[in-house]
Parts: sequence; structure tokens; C-alpha cells
Amino acid sequence: MAADTTTSAAPDGGFVGALVAAGAASYVPRMLNLAAPTRASWTERAIENLDVVLLDHAHCEKKAAGMAVRLLFRYPQHVFLQDPLSRLAREELGHFEEVLRLMQKRGIAFGRQKPSPYAGKLRQRLRAQDPEQLIDTLLCCALIEARSCERLGLLAERVPDAELARFYAGLLAAEARHHRLFADLAGQLADAASVRARLLELAEWEAEVVAADSSIVRMHSG
Ligand SMILES: [Fe+2]
Ligand SMILES: [Fe+2]
Repeated sequence: MAADTTTSAAPDGGFVGALVAAGAASYVPRMLNLAAPTRASWTERAIENLDVVLLDHAHCEKKAAGMAVRLLFRYPQHVFLQDPLSRLAREELGHFEEVLRLMQKRGIAFGRQKPSPYAGKLRQRLRAQDPEQLIDTLLCCALIEARSCERLGLLAERVPDAELARFYAGLLAAEARHHRLFADLAGQLADAASVRARLLELAEWEAEVVAADSSIVRMHSG
């Protein structure tokens, strides 16, 4: 089924990167279908705790790959998912390796870290039966990618360390593309208007969840 209107507001990754480079990051949330922008306090705390955020970022990239692979195993009947999610999983593992290399270069140890409750809370709104559950899962993945893209853009713009700023800016286009991919895949499972409406509903929930918990600093904390 048509996916065009589902993703009409989803950006081209290069365009997002260009906006960020032009210092227009405040426009990005709307273009990524996010219901609310990240608060300035998150960016300040993230910049004060970059080692912690880098470690979480590494875990997030690995989890993104794991999620894609889980969907491949769970839904072999959906042929349209197979090739794009296989490619996405490899790309996310590539990002994981990039973060690991950067951490190694900076003497930051990789290891276990308490995750933010973000993804678990997002899943609380998944509908119980397929295809609705798969649609919601794909849309939540789209929103996670969108929030990651927005926050990488904020870090690219504000981090004083030039190497790190370049690193974050280099990931923006991929995460914006992943946002669009997941929204397009959800659009294969129902009519465009209902998928779009569900995306907007879940975006409201995502904005609530991401702002809720600021007890720890993570890529998706408050
Ligand atoms: Fe990634
Ligand atoms: Fe991604």
C-alpha cells in the first residue's frame, strides 16, 4: 500500500544535515515528525557527560542492529522487510564500530551500562495483535531514529570538541534516512492515512516518554 503521505514530512538526510550545518536545528523536530523538541537542559547535561553519552550511544547503535535482526526472524512472511532491515542492521553495526573506535581513541572503556527506560516505555503503547503491533513497532523505530537524529544534530551543533562534532554530524543523514525507511515500511501494512494518524499519536507518547526521566543522562533521557 502507498506510503507516500505517511512520510511526506520525513526529510532527506542530506537536508537535515544541511539545516544543522546552517544552525537551524530548531526546525528539525517538526520535519522528523517529533511532537516536541528536546529541551535545552538535555543538551547541556549531555555535553557535561560526554563519556557517559558516548557509551550509551554505542549501546544504542548495537540495539538498533539487534532490533532489525529480531524483526527479520519474527516476520519472515513479510518479504518487503528482509532486504532493507538486513542492510540497516549492518549499517547500525558499522555505527557501533565507529563509536567503539572513537571511545578507544579517547580512553573510554566499553562495558555494561544501565539503559534509559525510553525504549521499554515506548513499547507500552504497542497494540497487541498483528498487523497493528508490527505497524506500531516500525513507527516506534521511526521515532527512535528521529529522536536520535535530532539529538545528534544538537550535539553536532553544540559540542565544543571539533572531532566529536564532526562525528555526530556525520551520522545525521543515516538516522534521518532510517526514520523515513521505518515509516515507509509501516506504510506497506495499512492505508496511508491510518499509518500517518498512528505515527502522530505515537509521536505524542514519545515526546512524553523522552522528557520524563532525567535521573540519568543518556541519548534518550529527559
Ligand atoms: Fe545508527
Ligand atoms: Fe539508525
